[in-house]
Amino acid sequence: MYKTCTSDANPLMQLKKGQIIELDIHALAFGGAGIGKYEGLTVFVEKTMPGDKVEASLTKIKSNFAEATLVKISKQSMDRENPRCKYSGTCGGCQLQFMPYEKQLEFKKQHVIDSFERIGKIYDPPVADVVGCEDPFYYRNKMEFTFGYDAEMNFALGMHLPGRRYDILDLNECHLQSEFSVEIVNKVRDFAIKRGWAPFKYSCGQGFLRSLFIREGKRTEEVMINLSTSDDLPSDLDEGLSELIDILKNDKIVSIFWSQVISKRGQRKRIKEKLLYGKPTLKEKMIVKDNELSFDIAPQSFFQVNTLQAENLYSHVVDMALGKAHNTVFDLFCGTGTIGLFLAKHVEQVLGIELVEDSVKVARENAMKNNIFNIDFIASDVGKVLSSVKERPSLIVVDPPRVGLTEKIIKKMNDFGASQIIYVSCNPATLARDCNWLKEYGYQVKHIQPVDMFPHTFHIENVCLLER
Ligand SMILES: C[S@@+](CC[C@H](N)C(=O)[O-])C[C@H]1O[C@@H](n2cnc3c(N)ncnc32)[C@H](O)[C@@H]1O
Repeated sequence: MYKTCTSDANPLMQLKKGQIIELDIHALAFGGAGIGKYEGLTVFVEKTMPGDKVEASLTKIKSNFAEATLVKISKQSMDRENPRCKYSGTCGGCQLQFMPYEKQLEFKKQHVIDSFERIGKIYDPPVADVVGCEDPFYYRNKMEFTFGYDAEMNFALGMHLPGRRYDILDLNECHLQSEFSVEIVNKVRDFAIKRGWAPFKYSCGQGFLRSLFIREGKRTEEVMINLSTSDDLPSDLDEGLSELIDILKNDKIVSIFWSQVISKRGQRKRIKEKLLYGKPTLKEKMIVKDNELSFDIAPQSFFQVNTLQAENLYSHVVDMALGKAHNTVFDLFCGTGTIGLFLAKHVEQVLGIELVEDSVKVARENAMKNNIFNIDFIASDVGKVLSSVKERPSLIVVDPPRVGLTEKIIKKMNDFGASQIIYVSCNPATLARDCNWLKEYGYQVKHIQPVDMFPHTFHIENVCLLER
C-alpha cells in the first residue's frame, strides 16, 4: 500500500493526492501540524507531534512542501499523553491536548525565539520561560456554544466542527470553562428539544436558536447567560422563556439575557437585547500585585478571556514599568482600560487611547468605580490622534490587535521620545517585525516574557520591554 521512493527518484513525479506515506515527525509548526520529511520533501501532518511515526494521506502537494491527514500513528512519541477530553482531535478547540503541558510551554517559547530570529532579525533574543497556567483546564471565563445540527441532522448544541461550515458537534463534555457551564449547556439542550425550538439554519435563514453565551467571573463565581436567537419567533415564546428561567435560576446565575439578532435582506444586522432575569452586568475582579480592581461586564463588553493569566500578564507589565520612575504613561489600544488602570497607582497620569467608543465608556466607568482619577481616555484611532496629543510620556504601553503596529504609528511613537516601550502582543510574528522597526529608532529589546493565556492551543501572548 505504501509508496516507497528510491533516493534518486523525483518524489513530486510520483506523489499523488490520497496516497498514503509513512514518515517520522521531527518538529511542530506553529498553527497546527507536525512536520516530517518524505524523500526530502517537507510534509505537514495535523494532530501529530515530534517523536511520532505516522501513516498519513496526502491532501496537497506543492513543489516545496506537502500536507497530509493522519491515518494512523504507527509508533507514538514517548511524550504523548492521553487527552483528558473525549472530543480532543475532533472539536478543534484544544489542538495540543495530547502534549504534556510542560512540552507545550517549551514549544511556545521556542516559537517566540524563532519569530524574533527569523522575522525580527534579533538574534539570541532575551526570551524568559513561559508563565504557564496553574491549572491548564477550566481557564476560560467566556464560552459561546452554537445551536445547529450534527452530520445526521440531529439537534446539536456545541462547537462548529473545523473545516465544516454548518455541522455542529453536540457537546456534553468540555474542560475549558467549568463543569457548571457544561451543566447549563445540557439543561438548555434538554429544554430546547422538549419545547421543539429549532436551531437557526444559516442556509435558509429559518429556525430560532443561534447560540448560548456563558460568562463566569473566575474571582467572583458570578455567571451570566445570554441566549442569542433569530427573529423567527416560536408561538410559545413567553411561556418558553419563563420556563427556561425557572430551569436555570440558581445562586450563581446573576443574569440571563435574550439577544435577538434581527437580520433582514438589504438591512444592517441589529441586536435587540433584553434582560430576562437578574442584573445587567456581571462582576469580575482582578488582583495585580496586591491591587484589587473590580469590573462590571455587560454581554457585549470585551474582557480578557483568561482572568488569572491576565493578572499575570499585567503584573509583568507593572514590574517592567516600575523599573524606572514615570510621570506620564500612554496606554495605546487600551480596550476597557485595564492595563492603564493597574498602572495608574504607580505613575502621575495615564492616557488611554482606544478606537471603540463603547469600550472607552466602560473604561471611564471602570476608573470611577475603582476611584482612579489620574487616568483619561480618548476614543479615537491611534494612527490618527497621536499627532494632536500634547502630553509627553516617558513610557508607552501598546497592546494592538494581531496585525500589530504600522510603520506610521511607530514613527509617531518615536516622536514622543519615551525612554521605555512595553509592547503587549498576542502575535509573536508581528511583535518581532515591529521590534525590528523599533530597533531602527534606537529601541533595544531588553526582556520578552511569554504568558500562556490559552493552554492546549498554539496561541501565546508576550510582554516585551524595549528601552533606549
Ligand atoms: C488586544 S486588544 C487590547 C485590550 C486591552 N489592552 C486589554 O488588555 O484588555 C486591542 C484593542 O485595540 C483596539 N483597536 C484596534 N485598532 C485600533 C486603532 N486603530 N486605534 C485604537 N484602538 C484600536 C481594539 O478595539 C481592541 O480593544
